[in-house]
Amino acid sequence: MLKNDSLIRALLRQPTRHTPVWLMRQAGRYLPEYNKTRARAGSFLALAKNPDLATEVTLQPLARFRLDAAIVFSDILTIPDAMGLGLAFVEGEGPRFERPLREEREIRALAAPDPGERLRYVLDTVSQARRALAGEVPLIGFSGSPFTLACYMVEGGASADFRTVKTMLYNRPDLLHHILEVNCRAVIAYLNAQIEAGAQVVMIFDTWGGALGAAEYREFSLAYMQRILAELKREHHGERIPNILFTKGGGAWLEAIAASGCDAVGVDWTLDIGAARNRVGDRVALQGNLDPMTLLAGPEATRRGTAAVLAAFGRAHGHVFNLGHGISQFTPPESVAALVDAVHELSPAYH
Ligand code: CP3
Repeated sequence: MLKNDSLIRALLRQPTRHTPVWLMRQAGRYLPEYNKTRARAGSFLALAKNPDLATEVTLQPLARFRLDAAIVFSDILTIPDAMGLGLAFVEGEGPRFERPLREEREIRALAAPDPGERLRYVLDTVSQARRALAGEVPLIGFSGSPFTLACYMVEGGASADFRTVKTMLYNRPDLLHHILEVNCRAVIAYLNAQIEAGAQVVMIFDTWGGALGAAEYREFSLAYMQRILAELKREHHGERIPNILFTKGGGAWLEAIAASGCDAVGVDWTLDIGAARNRVGDRVALQGNLDPMTLLAGPEATRRGTAAVLAAFGRAHGHVFNLGHGISQFTPPESVAALVDAVHELSPAYH
């Protein structure tokens, strides 16, 4: 039994006394205690692969701030790593794959990993973090979307223009569809395994879907996420497991995303969240959407920005307060405290 089930209730558009709040990448480099644990582990990947230390950092932001959820400490690139692409994080450069997917032969040989084997460490972190939370707040599990994973797998790392994966999309759509097909099966198995290990909410991060054209978004990103949503476990041990779909830059397609079968849609900071609410009506809950850069301007600016997002959403249920994207490593922790306190203080007036 959850002591604080406000996140679950808001995702299902049920009444709550305040607007629940959590932050994408809430456990990360802006926290000095995170940097200490990461140094102890030796690297980000060593940290993510050690369930004891990953559980420790999952809980760190909750010890400081009155957050209404925990998110399991991991990364979206665990799946391609388990597929054997050779993940490394280069300091200051971000993720790199030693063996990006380029050759047709390699693409045809790609297989979805059994989450109980090569992703066991993630499932162990989920069950340990769930136990350590002792029902205080729900635990969120997550995965990248098939398309966002394919971006990293084909490009071999971060990219400003996605030219390799987009060239494949326009030249050899059959090859990209094959990768997406395998990724789709991998994500379904991975998220359902996280639910069985104890995740109480699951979120799909489609970080790069917004880089596509409208027709390509539907065909190469949304269609696969729709299939995942249709195959996800909706209940576990009699409890409803809500899901959240987040496409960064997906504002133009909000109605289509809301019709995908998800319980909640994450929105980035480019939308007015009140206008977004009018567009989706009562079909889904919304999560977002303060610009993460607001926090760099300090606690006062953060409090003003937080108040503005709450006012824009207005008097209704079905809002989960979050940033419009992951928190920046340059965020002063005092700004996070101001944000979380402002949501707890100001949001009851809207319920
Ligand atoms: O939200 C949380 O607190 C849970 C942990 C989490 C991480 N990554 C930890 C992490 C989550 C949910 C992610 C998702 C993720 N990872 C996404 C999708 C979300 C988004 O931002 O749109 C993406 C695209 C990735 C891939 C990835 N992992 C990138 C681009 C980077 C940044 C590299 C860099 O050096 O800036 C990572 C590394 C990463 N993942 C860090 C953390 C805390 C920082 C690594 C470190 O400690 O050195």
